[in-house]
Amino acid sequence: MKTVQDYIRTIPDFPHEGIMFRDVTTLFSDPRGFRIAIDQLLHPYAGQNIDKVVGLEARGFILGGAIAHQLGKGFVPIRKKGKLPGKTIEQAYTLEYGEAVMEVHDDALQAGEKVLLVDDLLATGGTAEAGIKLIERMGAEVVGCAFVIDLPDLGGRKKLEKMGMAVHALCAFDGE
Ligand code: PRP
Ligand code: MG
Repeated sequence: MKTVQDYIRTIPDFPHEGIMFRDVTTLFSDPRGFRIAIDQLLHPYAGQNIDKVVGLEARGFILGGAIAHQLGKGFVPIRKKGKLPGKTIEQAYTLEYGEAVMEVHDDALQAGEKVLLVDDLLATGGTAEAGIKLIERMGAEVVGCAFVIDLPDLGGRKKLEKMGMAVHALCAFDGE
């Protein structure tokens, strides 16, 4: 039986030379692959007290939407700056080259709500850290961070664990 990792396609030298791009579109487009990924992502949280699922743009929307539906919870998007129409709060974060800004509607979460944060991939952890900060600035609590892929050599898991987060990843690619 194929595992989640087996459905992920690797494309060398994208977006830059020397980068091995882990492409989850081949996981998402396979009915069994997508189903087992969603089932495995939400498995640790099925019996837990969770109020909202928060997804990070862009692939975190695809995963987070399916997880929220399955758990019977609401879904909240954290978007790149300039996309959300209502009043937002912003958080800057560091990319490979330069900085970027993420936003969330300032009324999307209530103080005390328990949140599951979802994205496709954990690399340096900068994106997830920005998401966690936004959630915590609204007074909500991150009870889990779920990813399809962990790139442990880039240190994201360690960074999030240092922040006290529980990290759940379905597979890892070493050596990057
Ligand atoms: C990728 C990936 C994660 C993030 C992980 O997103 O989907 O969100 O990078 O990297 P980090 O742990 O080093 O922050 P990307 O910024 O390429 O944007 P996209 O999801 O909108 O394509
Ligand atoms: Mg992303």
